[in-house]
Amino acid sequence: MKFFIDTADLDEIRAANDLGVLDGVTTNPSLVAKIVKDPDNFTYRDFKEHIAKICEIVDGPVSAEVTTLTAEEMVAQGEELAEIDENVVVKCPLTLEGLKAMRHLSGNGIRINATLVFSPTQALLAAKAGASFVSPFVGRLDDISTEGMALVEQIVGIYENYRFSTEVLVASIRHPQHVVEAAMIGADVATIPFKVIGQLLKHPLTDSGLRRFMDDAAVMKES
Ligand code: E4P
Repeated sequence: MKFFIDTADLDEIRAANDLGVLDGVTTNPSLVAKIVKDPDNFTYRDFKEHIAKICEIVDGPVSAEVTTLTAEEMVAQGEELAEIDENVVVKCPLTLEGLKAMRHLSGNGIRINATLVFSPTQALLAAKAGASFVSPFVGRLDDISTEGMALVEQIVGIYENYRFSTEVLVASIRHPQHVVEAAMIGADVATIPFKVIGQLLKHPLTDSGLRRFMDDAAVMKES
């Protein structure tokens, strides 16, 4: 299972990368907006430079999302984003226009992450449009009392039936249990917020066990 970090924050990306378990990064316009210090002077060019910085830190797919609504505009933006670095994956929303853009971009060798996916039919369309990744948003489904992980299970099953090569990237993860369930279902990737990556390794018995080992280790004197 691959671990991506779900953030645009360079410090978080560096810290997660230093752990040695990071395989890629996902961003979206909301995550980018969070790290902008001077919103009045942040340009699209600044956004692209920021994505380039992320690519310098992490050796793996870095998702950068289009911010336009028509297929034509998404294609133009997607081509520009893909030029930043060979690791850039263009994120397109699973709308009618997004689908057309995905087909066009993937047909020209640009990797796509189909985003804002909330149904198995959307995931089927993403695979048929040649997306490299499909992003079901589990947390946002849970938020509206719908079992987000059930969607992941459906998509994994459907993709297995037809041997689609599109990777299932579980997005909108809110807690470690989401990661456990995604792994048990066999999802290819989990994109995880920095805080949750930290929570993955925490266990009170590890902390108390280590404290005791360190206390008992005091019996060993320097020779
Ligand atoms: C990542 O690809 C998604 O954009 C992200 O996981 C959405 O997360 P949220 O539902 O917490 O905003």
